[in-house]
Amino acid sequence: MNTEQNLLSVETLKKYFELKSGFGSPKKFLKAVDGVSFDVNGNSVFAIVGESGCGKTTIARLLMKLLDPTDGRIIFKGQDVSALRGEALMGFRRSVQIVFQDPFASLNPRMRIVDALSEPFKIHKLAPKHEIKDRVTELLMKVGITDEALYRYPHEFSGGQRQRICIARALTVSPSLIVADEPLSALDVSIQAQILNLLQDIKKETGIALILISHDLRVVHYLSDEVAVMYLGRIVERAKTEDIFKEPLHPYTHLLLASAPEIRHAKSANRIRPAEQGDVPSPVDLPQGCSFHPRCSKKLAICDKIEPVLKEKNGRHIACHLYNSE
Ligand SMILES: Nc1ncnc2c1ncn2[C@@H]1O[C@H](COP(=O)(O)OP(=O)(O)OP(=O)(O)O)[C@@H](O)[C@H]1O
Ligand SMILES: [Mg+2]
Repeated sequence: MNTEQNLLSVETLKKYFELKSGFGSPKKFLKAVDGVSFDVNGNSVFAIVGESGCGKTTIARLLMKLLDPTDGRIIFKGQDVSALRGEALMGFRRSVQIVFQDPFASLNPRMRIVDALSEPFKIHKLAPKHEIKDRVTELLMKVGITDEALYRYPHEFSGGQRQRICIARALTVSPSLIVADEPLSALDVSIQAQILNLLQDIKKETGIALILISHDLRVVHYLSDEVAVMYLGRIVERAKTEDIFKEPLHPYTHLLLASAPEIRHAKSANRIRPAEQGDVPSPVDLPQGCSFHPRCSKKLAICDKIEPVLKEKNGRHIACHLYNSE
């Protein structure tokens, strides 16, 4: 549902990648994102978690309009983004920024920091020319980088500093939403906490909403307000962060929490059985019924026949026959 307070509504979004098949053989599709819906409110952090290959980055690329959806809609500030053209599209590109996992790959190695950060000001005509350098310096200060950095190149910085610079660059255009795809996972553990604190400060001070994609549940627990748990292209559970960690419902959420033992108050750790650590099915040949049933120790007779849909119950959203049968 798209309401006033929703900054972003994602409605049954799908992305199927067509796979190369032999001449005459039927077309095959990889269902990377298969009917995902969620809303993000302004000034909130919405986390997307799930194992490798479940479709998180594909969602990020769809949200950035780097990919076109196979089906479904993305509504940003009340407008269907697929219909945006010209000025409105420029406005959207300004409002939604991305921070990638690898801060080195996302900075041009031949551009000095001052130039890399001035560029968005120029492209979007956000400040008069003579003010740009001051604005860049100010933003770098905000992320903890001194103005000595201005005339240096990306390789002269550590990974953590480069990620700070990427975050500063995302902030240049005063976005309403930042999509951060594994923003910490390329960094040393000792640096991760610093960048995490920086993201926390941005959340508190700027009111910018954040979509946080991470496989690190500690990060998600610390920073996010809501969590969507994905499995093979679908959201299997979506809830407030505290609910997910205090009382995970979906057997897959239990499994994820159990493999992150440092999160203490999750009830899941002793409920999970090793059988659930089985192989993830291929997103090309998904099993019939619930995709998780081959790994699920709580499997019911219905689970390999009918696919459960995401339903709301007591403020929680869950796609599991254990909860949705009545
Ligand atoms: N351009 C593409 N063509 C074909 N398949 C793709 C393409 N991009 C992604 N995929 C496939 O789509 C699925 C989802 O990939 P995606 O990168 O979104 O996963 P992810 O959740 O971000 O994983 P990770 O945690 O490893 O980053 C994977 O099976 C991947 O191989
Ligand atoms: Mg990814």
